[in-house]
Amino acid sequence: MGIIVLKNKTIVLGISGSIAAYKICDLVRKLVKLRAKVICVMTSSAKQFVTPVTLQTISGNPVMEDIFEETTGGQVNHIFLAQIADLILIAPATANIIGKLAGGLADDLLSSVVLAARVPILICPSMNKNMYENEIVQGNIKKLKEKRFIFAGPETGFLACGTKGEGRLLEIDKIADKVVEILKEGKIKKKDFLGIKFLVTAGPTREYLDPVRFISNPSTGRMGYALAREAQERGAEVILISGPTHLPFPEEVKVVSIKSALEMEKEVKKYFPGVDVFIGAAAVSDWCADKKAKNKIRKSERMMLPLVKTPDILAGLGNKKGNKILVGFAAETGHLQRNAKNKLIKKNLDFIVANKVKESFGKQTNKITIIDREDNIETYPFLDKKKVAFFIINKILSFFPLKR
Ligand code: C5P
Repeated sequence: MGIIVLKNKTIVLGISGSIAAYKICDLVRKLVKLRAKVICVMTSSAKQFVTPVTLQTISGNPVMEDIFEETTGGQVNHIFLAQIADLILIAPATANIIGKLAGGLADDLLSSVVLAARVPILICPSMNKNMYENEIVQGNIKKLKEKRFIFAGPETGFLACGTKGEGRLLEIDKIADKVVEILKEGKIKKKDFLGIKFLVTAGPTREYLDPVRFISNPSTGRMGYALAREAQERGAEVILISGPTHLPFPEEVKVVSIKSALEMEKEVKKYFPGVDVFIGAAAVSDWCADKKAKNKIRKSERMMLPLVKTPDILAGLGNKKGNKILVGFAAETGHLQRNAKNKLIKKNLDFIVANKVKESFGKQTNKITIIDREDNIETYPFLDKKKVAFFIINKILSFFPLKR
């Protein structure tokens, strides 16, 4: 396991009153060694087993116990903790805290943080075998598992009460591994876009000349689909207006399929008033046939095609921007930054993602430069489009300061 694997991650570690609480000092040491910021929240009975001073010293952060105590510079403790956490870990978790969470109670700091949080919650139970097997406890665990709670352990072995059975706290190393798995593999992402609505365009458009021929481009739709998926996984409500692609629709995203630029414009205009963020990732054809032939055009040696400009969908939105965040793409063959900057201004965008046609079209990876209105320029190396989407969505997050 890499030493800085949890760098920039904040873990709120809830400790409830089980004898296994004494083992938690070791867990805190491990997580700190992996560079996580660990903030311990103790229930009042946890303090019978381990002292706040010990945990404070090992974690390097104040231990929080009281919902009303003034410790976070004027902020409400449980809301503050719920907002800064990337993960809430409860270890050891007693039957009592599990019961409270299953019942939606919030009568102390730890249970209140859990109710206010929108991040993954990992629970490591520890209790006597009979208590663990109790139907009510099992019912509570089942209920929590059906929500967004993740359980790890308990293990079978010798218990503090002198019996043997299922109820031992999962081994500390295994708890640390589970934390890394959840936070690093990104299976469960921080829901930092809850309540935000996105409209994303993706893929090419097809401009039919006659019933069988069309003008298009090699866009695969991958970038736009990755953006839609990333925003959805982070809690946003997402509508994706997609040109023809071979990609599976992202889960829990409303997809509207279109073919031509005009159809795309119609759908964008329909959904735009209700959203907070618009991302134009589609490679919209700039021209279409002046008049689409009803019947197949007969073959000839030479052929003149009268084309007309399609509407610039993104530029059209720039005029009605208001408080909405507008993001565009600039696929260029030369003068990348200069052309992208011009488009940023002309289309009234918040920022533009510039990429070279050769390095993006039809590819699994992309190499992007993000340019914003303050002239901040961020360049990235070649990355998988999923990772590129992560950085673009992070940039959008910077426009919602309260959600950071
Ligand atoms: O001007 P250019 O086509 O390079 O601008 C690219 C950006 O504008 C992309 O975000 C693209 O989705 C959007 N666009 C559009 N409608 C068009 C052409 C481009 O929305 N007709």
